[in-house]
Amino acid sequence: MQNQSTSQEQATPKGLLQQRLADFDIPQRFKEQGIYPYFREIEGKQGPIVNMDGHDVLMFGSNAYTALTYDDRVIQAGVDALIKYGSGCAGSRFLNGTLDLHTVLEREIADFVGKDEALCFTTGFTVNSGVIPALVGRNDYILYDSRVHASIIDGRRLAQAKQLRFKHNDMEDLERLLQKCKPDAVKLIVVDGVFSMEGDLAPIPELVELRNKYNATLMVDEAHGVGVFGETGAGVCQHFGLTDEVDLIMGTFSKSLASIGGFIATDHITANYLRHNARTFIFSASCSPAATACALEALRILRTETQILTDLWEVTEYALKRFREEGFEIGPTESPIIPLYVRDTEKTFKVTARALEEGVFINPVIPPACAPNDTLVRFALMAKHTHEQVEEAVKRLKHCFLELGIID
Ligand SMILES: Cc1ncc(COP(=O)(O)O)c(C=O)c1O
Repeated sequence: MQNQSTSQEQATPKGLLQQRLADFDIPQRFKEQGIYPYFREIEGKQGPIVNMDGHDVLMFGSNAYTALTYDDRVIQAGVDALIKYGSGCAGSRFLNGTLDLHTVLEREIADFVGKDEALCFTTGFTVNSGVIPALVGRNDYILYDSRVHASIIDGRRLAQAKQLRFKHNDMEDLERLLQKCKPDAVKLIVVDGVFSMEGDLAPIPELVELRNKYNATLMVDEAHGVGVFGETGAGVCQHFGLTDEVDLIMGTFSKSLASIGGFIATDHITANYLRHNARTFIFSASCSPAATACALEALRILRTETQILTDLWEVTEYALKRFREEGFEIGPTESPIIPLYVRDTEKTFKVTARALEEGVFINPVIPPACAPNDTLVRFALMAKHTHEQVEEAVKRLKHCFLELGIID
């Protein structure tokens, strides 16, 4: 496997801080065993097959659900924008960094997800870490699912509001917490629409019911919902027909929209407030012209080519069926994210390394991204994967899982 070198980590620590940091040697230990699974280099475009170290590898570790990252039209849109607008915006949206391209993308995103307005940020991470603290104050509450993405966790850490965590998808637990909140305080409920590691969905209808009953505000992270769920791929809120009842819809351009950047879509009043108060929007440079143009083109393709969603779901259903038939433990996933449970951190790294030797790229998921007993490898599909590629991956992964005694 690439990147197993330990020479840099063996340098002699200088000063107190470096001495303390030198105690962090977990990566070195996994590198010594040849099972370090991070920062693996891909030498080309991200499609169903990628080039690594001169070899073709089946890519099942990507979030490019729509497979538009290597689409010629998306690439050309990026090239054209680079030539027209240059390489960067040299400022934040607030000041000199707003291009007509950003505004067009915002209008089309808002229309796509079904909200009054959208604001485009430089990453999805900065949407969550900027929007959440901007919305709530000292006397308010944030109620969040225990498995939300790290960017939501960091957003709530930056907020001054009281923080209440409810058990994953447990609406009784959420209601119990809502009952504790002061009735006249703002209560912001935040969930992932599709949970990024396990692939299960948030119960949007029940969340909406509680939002209405307790006069709360509901924010749904659609990072893994856009381009995957809903009639036109607008996400799980659309899938449940409840877009109007969800106050804030967050999304990213780094997955189905084949680029980098993120958005928050909401009503006029909230958008106006966030535009002038979300610190990661105001104090960070805007999304580059090429990235913005690629996201816009990917969005337009997604909206016109419904075959993308059809293909994605067809191959997803096939993969779900095959993993179940072959005896893998895949949990209650309902999406193109298929967790293959290992339930042991070292074996999770070992099976990731063995899979790559067998020509299959998958991602290890260990704490804090999951509970200690829930370690898994994450297998994700793209619309352009074929049945043959899935079949080949299932066969090779089964061999690795059997070899390591993960399944029998
Ligand atoms: C659920 C979720 N929210 C937010 C993000 C952050 O998005 P971005 O990659 O655009 O920073 C991710 C990315 O991994 C995610 O999975």
